[in-house]
Amino acid sequence: MIGKLNHIAIAVPNLLEAAEKYKNTLGVKVGKPIDQPEHGVTVIFIELPNTKIELIFPFGENSPIEKFLDKNPAGGIHHVCFEVEDIYYAAEKLELEGARILGNKEPKIGAHGKPVLFLHPKDFNGTLIELEEV
Ligand code: CO
Repeated sequence: MIGKLNHIAIAVPNLLEAAEKYKNTLGVKVGKPIDQPEHGVTVIFIELPNTKIELIFPFGENSPIEKFLDKNPAGGIHHVCFEVEDIYYAAEKLELEGARILGNKEPKIGAHGKPVLFLHPKDFNGTLIELEEV
């Protein structure tokens, strides 16, 4: 049901430092920081030939990644995002399979302007999964 890996989001305690590391040590082109107040994050996008890395840092109060960074002060993989063709179909199928959808189960417009859903990490080996309709 899922398609391509759209991105891997990595929460970081220092956005510019992390971006410098990707640029200088790993030798990739990194974007500029983009504030996304509606998602409580500031993001730097990194385009790889086959997928994207998103470095994410808390924006404002009650950022969804604040707690994650409290638990993982050095940063870490926050979620992986898979593409789906039809997010309502995916949600229905996942629920039938017993996977839990976070929030009110209604797709929200995500960081790329497309509908997204998040799945409970406890149902997927401790990994938060984002589904994005493409
Ligand atoms: Co994401």
